[in-house]
Amino acid sequence: MVDAVPVTTRWRVEAAASSAAARWTRDESRVHESPRWSRCHDRAEDRDVRSARVHREDAAAHCPPDVEAGDDRAVGRSVTGMGRGLWGRNHAADCRRERCPAGSPPDRSTRARLELVGIDFEQIKAGAKAMWSLGDYSLLAAGLEPAARDLVDACGVASGQEVLDVATGSGNCAIAAARKGARVVASDLTPAMLALGRARTATEDLEIEWIEADAEDLPFTTGRFDCVTSVFGAMIAPRQDVVASELFRVVRPGGTVGMANWTPESFMKKMGEVTSRYAPPPPAGVPDAFRWGEEETVRSLFEAFASSVQIDRRIVTWTYGSWDEMRSVGENFGGSVMAKKMMPPSMFAQMGEDVEALFREHNRGTEGTVVIDNEYLQVVAHRA
Ligand SMILES: C[S@@+](CC[C@H](N)C(=O)[O-])C[C@H]1O[C@@H](n2cnc3c(N)ncnc32)[C@H](O)[C@@H]1O
Repeated sequence: MVDAVPVTTRWRVEAAASSAAARWTRDESRVHESPRWSRCHDRAEDRDVRSARVHREDAAAHCPPDVEAGDDRAVGRSVTGMGRGLWGRNHAADCRRERCPAGSPPDRSTRARLELVGIDFEQIKAGAKAMWSLGDYSLLAAGLEPAARDLVDACGVASGQEVLDVATGSGNCAIAAARKGARVVASDLTPAMLALGRARTATEDLEIEWIEADAEDLPFTTGRFDCVTSVFGAMIAPRQDVVASELFRVVRPGGTVGMANWTPESFMKKMGEVTSRYAPPPPAGVPDAFRWGEEETVRSLFEAFASSVQIDRRIVTWTYGSWDEMRSVGENFGGSVMAKKMMPPSMFAQMGEDVEALFREHNRGTEGTVVIDNEYLQVVAHRA
């Protein structure tokens, strides 16, 4: 049980039992009085105990005994409500950096992690999975494909390598890597995305295994892959330091981690600002995904794991032959399909008008075409 959790006002998205649709509900109860929260929390406790035990066994190999004692105190704190990984794996990262917090006041990164106490990450991810299950993602995927191909080139993916693409969607990056002759594992939180990817590659003889997996908890052995990539995907998972730790855990020493992340200046971010005016606020304390598009944030998230980090600011351009084509891509995006189910029609129409006004403001197409530049960071790092 959670002993002392403050009264909170929070919104939550619940996957509806009968379909992938979701609804927003306002929850003004004490978090610990919500049976739904308690169930999630109990599961999180179980996982915390398991993950902390694994870490203790892990840490025993390299931590001195006093650090081990500190680790036990960390376990005590973790079972009072922090999600899995907030202490377990990140404590391991602190050990690697020889910044074990045992016995000393919490440092800056530890304090940042403590601020995440009480956030229901499983519910956030259930909402994301429900959203990404809707619509027809393949239309949007086509607009991201050049960034995936560029990343595969920048990472030097070659025949004979084993590559993992995290949050693969319908497999843009996985397919580009497999076409270079690599053996590829394509993983994503959303089964519907994997089904799209399988269908897309059914007639091509590519070595791709499609696996359902959360970027925060990759079901792969340590050091398995030569290269791990993620294109506008891993940046969506809520616990950014857990994601960074996982991407580097599964790549071999000297191997490559490559990401494409929208910047805070991107058209994508501006679009998010428009649509978020029509959505409930995100849970307090969850970091903004666009932090992955800030150079200093990426360097700080990778600091503990990487021997080198190369960052380039790049543009991926969306080109549509007409406004109708642009609208059709937008209407088939999972977020729009979900919004349409949840909003009154007039509100949904108003949101569509605001989005279109943003497109018109940034359009550099002529004669009825739509051409939009979208900025992202291409990140290529090597594991120490
Ligand atoms: C914008 S799409 C990008 C997909 C693909 N990489 C591409 O370039 O087309 C985001 C993807 O992230 C996936 N995703 C969201 N949260 C995730 C998580 N916690 N773990 C793994 N995948 C996640 C979604 O299911 C979706 O397929």
